[in-house]
Amino acid sequence: MDVAAPSLVTAGGPAPRRADPCAFVIFGASGDLTKRLLLPALYNLAVGQLLPEGFAVVGVARAEMSDDEFRRHMSDALKDFAGDAIHPDALDGVIARCRYVRGDFDDPSTYGRLKTELAKVSRTDNTGENCLFYLATPPDSFAHVARLLGECGLAKEENGSWRRLIVEKPFGYDLQSACALNKQLLGAFSERQIYRIDHYLGKETVQNIMVLRFANGMFEPIWNRHHIDHVQITVAETVSVESRGKFYDHTGALRDMIPNHLFQLLALTAMEPPSRFEADAVRTEKLKAIEAIHPLNKDSAFADVVRAQYTAGRVNGKPVADYRDARGVSPQSLTETYVAMRLMIDNWRWAGVPFYLRTGKALAARKTEIAIKFRSAPLALFRDMPVESLAQNLLILRIQPDEGAALHFNAKIPGPDIRIENVRMNFKYEDYFDAAPSTGYETLIYDCMIGDSMLFQRAVDIEAGWRAVDPILQAWCAADGHDLHFYPAGSDGPKEAGCLLSRSGQQWRSIT
Ligand code: BG6
Repeated sequence: MDVAAPSLVTAGGPAPRRADPCAFVIFGASGDLTKRLLLPALYNLAVGQLLPEGFAVVGVARAEMSDDEFRRHMSDALKDFAGDAIHPDALDGVIARCRYVRGDFDDPSTYGRLKTELAKVSRTDNTGENCLFYLATPPDSFAHVARLLGECGLAKEENGSWRRLIVEKPFGYDLQSACALNKQLLGAFSERQIYRIDHYLGKETVQNIMVLRFANGMFEPIWNRHHIDHVQITVAETVSVESRGKFYDHTGALRDMIPNHLFQLLALTAMEPPSRFEADAVRTEKLKAIEAIHPLNKDSAFADVVRAQYTAGRVNGKPVADYRDARGVSPQSLTETYVAMRLMIDNWRWAGVPFYLRTGKALAARKTEIAIKFRSAPLALFRDMPVESLAQNLLILRIQPDEGAALHFNAKIPGPDIRIENVRMNFKYEDYFDAAPSTGYETLIYDCMIGDSMLFQRAVDIEAGWRAVDPILQAWCAADGHDLHFYPAGSDGPKEAGCLLSRSGQQWRSIT
């Protein structure tokens, strides 16, 4: 029986612009991503009054489940996520819109049942013809699902409706597989319909990099090789490989983090101002920055890239076992859990300015930041005075945690003589703004529903990222692990990573 669902309109506040009516189809609906991130994000959108009135969630997965069982699972997941702060109206509104279709992703009959269900919700929940297909499945299903959606006519946009496909990470395993996947997806959907997600772009502080650079007059004139000495981009994690051993041992830190998350941070830092704040103009400038990365080769891949694996240690006081002892990891594994690199960008703005990137698991602290170190003042005016140190100015963009920005500069210590100390101006988001509860997926899902693809990657963008790291993967593959270093869990990473900067008289910022 079709029952009228509770309204998705929650009380209070001005009415924001709601997304277009649509059905939100999740492939892999019984998985972790759906429970931890997608449903909570939809719930947050409902609280923010951004979901359309005509809306339904259609979960597709292999598990045997009725609509009611699916709703119960989703409701439990939302209660775990939102705890006591739950808005019952928003919760009921989202849960009542959930439907379930059981089926194997490679079985054409699944798509027949999905089609029937979509026709039904179009009437009962006024979703119209618009559909968003979210691939929250293991990556080896991406191509099948897209192809079978195409074959049963669900990718076709008719009567002014839209059909969009959101593809999760990992997008390919290397350049060749990423190109092949792009080709397969493009066999069923057009580029305009495909939304390749990088969840880093859903983070407020990542989006703020462009605002900081281009909505302020003071940064852009000094944002170049004449004033900047180097840039350090750090994504440090305290988590170890945990239960993801099988996936991670096959993937490693480089594939998992560099061509996607760290390159997004690099592109936003290094890009030229786009001509318009519009999806293709922005993405094209970011692409140009990635394409300008000086190509590494067999030799420079060893000189400018350091890989390492964690050994047993303690993180935040808790013991962490050796990476090779983790479940799903080979005892002889040569997979890196840490990677650091020095990249140069071949363009007029950045020639000669090294970009140092590092990321790793089981490190001393969780910290994602971009540190921009400026050149020293040209005259050592204070040479003959008792000056301990004249530090270089530093602008730190803190992405997470403790979101904000800080500027380090030199100031006189009060007193009769000239003594100088490095001081810090600190901006914290929480001091200015009330953060809306967010998983980071709200913006991305909402943007997809309204057809704004600025925060998603095109085929060319994905391929450019892989192209830049491909020589490293090839050099490592041939090296048989002779260059793999080790670091104890809970440290700042391998000491060998320091060599990348010490050649230029610089050092990494401490992670803690
Ligand atoms: C994912 C990686 O894409 O990003 C994980 O697969 C990593 O290994 C995660 O832990 C980091 O994301 P965040 O948002 O916690 O910085």
